[in-house]
Amino acid sequence: MIWIGMSLHHLATEGKARLVRHARRALGGVGLFVIWEPTLFEGEDRAAWLARFSLQRDRWSTLSDEEFASMKRHMLVADFPETADTWLHMGRDAGFRRAEEIFMMPNRMGRVFRYWN
Ligand SMILES: C[S@@+](CC[C@H](N)C(=O)[O-])C[C@H]1O[C@@H](n2cnc3c(N)ncnc32)[C@H](O)[C@@H]1O
Repeated sequence: MIWIGMSLHHLATEGKARLVRHARRALGGVGLFVIWEPTLFEGEDRAAWLARFSLQRDRWSTLSDEEFASMKRHMLVADFPETADTWLHMGRDAGFRRAEEIFMMPNRMGRVFRYWN
């Protein structure tokens, strides 16, 4: 099994696709590839996804304003989410026969996908 948690989204779309192809090859046709990654709603762009996170300030009540701003700064420079459709297609394009979404975070900012043959 290969598990990636909240890291793949730092790459641009082609870099993500390349890594998924490497994962498919490394698994050699057996096992599971599972990712937990930021996910756009269908039709949503990155700016709207970032704005959606900003609206969740109240849910992060243990963080100071500066800490929350620091998270937002990191997301602005480093986080590149994809739609669920794109995440699923990336797996199929890499050669996985099966791809499915198995979990959505309660705050709906990210999801878990699994790929296998
Ligand atoms: C939000 S953290 C997630 C950490 C951990 N995987 C988890 O689920 O708790 C994102 C991680 O991605 C790593 N990262 C960023 N760019 C990367 C890259 N190009 N290749 C590998 N890891 C990267 C960072 O160092 C950081 O540890």
